[in-house]
Amino acid sequence: MERITVGFLGCGNIGCGVYKLLETYGEEIFRNEGVAFDVKKILVRSLGKKRSWNIPAHLLTDHPDEVLDDPEIAVVMEFMGGEEPASSYMIRALEGGKTVVTANKMALASNWNAIVSAAREHGAGLYYEASVCGAIPVIRAINDSLQANRITSVMGIINGTTNYILSRMSQEGAAYEDVLADAQKLGLAEPDPTADVEGYDAAYKLSILSTLAFHRHVPVECIYREGITGITPLDVQCGKEFGLTLKLLGVAKEEDGKIQARVHPTFVRSSHPLAGVSDAFNAVYVNGHACGEMMFYGRGAGDMPTASALVSDLIKAAHTKRHPLPAVNDVPCEIAEDWSCVHFVRMKAKDEPGVLALVSGQFAQYGVSISSMVQKGDRDADGYVQVIFLTHEASERAVRSALAALPAEKVCIGSIIRVEGE
Ligand SMILES: NC(=O)c1ccc[n+]([C@@H]2O[C@H](COP(=O)([O-])OP(=O)(O)OC[C@H]3O[C@@H](n4cnc5c(N)ncnc54)[C@H](OP(=O)(O)O)[C@@H]3O)[C@@H](O)[C@H]2O)c1
Repeated sequence: MERITVGFLGCGNIGCGVYKLLETYGEEIFRNEGVAFDVKKILVRSLGKKRSWNIPAHLLTDHPDEVLDDPEIAVVMEFMGGEEPASSYMIRALEGGKTVVTANKMALASNWNAIVSAAREHGAGLYYEASVCGAIPVIRAINDSLQANRITSVMGIINGTTNYILSRMSQEGAAYEDVLADAQKLGLAEPDPTADVEGYDAAYKLSILSTLAFHRHVPVECIYREGITGITPLDVQCGKEFGLTLKLLGVAKEEDGKIQARVHPTFVRSSHPLAGVSDAFNAVYVNGHACGEMMFYGRGAGDMPTASALVSDLIKAAHTKRHPLPAVNDVPCEIAEDWSCVHFVRMKAKDEPGVLALVSGQFAQYGVSISSMVQKGDRDADGYVQVIFLTHEASERAVRSALAALPAEKVCIGSIIRVEGE
């Protein structure tokens, strides 16, 4: 029998969830796994705050040293959020030889090298399953089950808030602002939703996923990022008519030694497994040269789903004599500045002879071939009609150059949305 003393950094949604899971399921874990966990100290900001689970008052402290410097505490679980002071506290814990288990994608992605180096130099354990997609064991799968594969692509719905918003826009034809307001009322979106809707949260997760998948550090600053705030019901509806479903995807691919890593609204064919992932669910679709395609699906957030991953890491750390480090080599990562995919282009074009020929001629000049074109609705009061083009696979730079060269008095570009998972 083994007893391990644990300290928490933070006790909000996730911290309370972990405490609850250990309190309510700890005995079964002990019976099944032969290990018990004693929570000794919990760092919070406000000692008197009401919490969602009954936490004994004597465990709470507002002095980080009581967690970080206590020699009895072998594992520090971090769920305070934000980049600082969380990163510095994790590094301090690792430097003291303590194992760190974290749910904090922002701190980990932003300070990957410093945190991993501290773990390496001090032989300390670093576990972070909960930092990407809550309960879904995708980090464990990439690190421990797919090592025999050259992973060629990872595509994921890795932010539940945006998936909820886009799912409802698709199901109900609702406007972005209305669904966002509902999501905020339901607690599915923050009062300031920027981190989710502008793709920052997904970019942190994609940085971690792609770093592990391709064995090279993919810094979060190198990830192309575009959010969903400009998406209109018309885009969602037009996509549906082409058999496409709109998602905010994190896409990472390795082609010709270069890595593409991007977060943006993306159409997927409605028959693709990612298209069926609705509401706040997450899914990650991985392609490996030996295993082929597979998808991991489940709850990417919430107190208990996230606690499931954190406590699982805690158990894994307890069973591990020599902690694994991320299998990432020192070769610098070459980031692709252009990529090829199918493009959905919606534009308003002057309803007069020769305009469509002008557009298709411009595409041809840049080597972009058109796979279909639809004119939607009637001509508006200014004499424009909505036209949607779907290209064949084409370089993004070429598509944008072709469109930029069109005369503004004839054509007004509404949206350019990438299509993946062909
Ligand atoms: N929420 C989810 O569904 C989810 C899912 C996956 C991963 N995560 C990650 O889990 C982490 C925590 O999320 P959460 O939703 O639990 O956040 P939260 O509810 O805001 O909780 C944060 C906790 O950290 C404490 N804290 C924050 N800054 C502190 C400081 N400077 N000093 C001392 N204590 C501090 C807070 O203390 P007080 O309580 O006293 O204010 C609070 O207990 C984040 O990294 C998040 O990205 C969350």
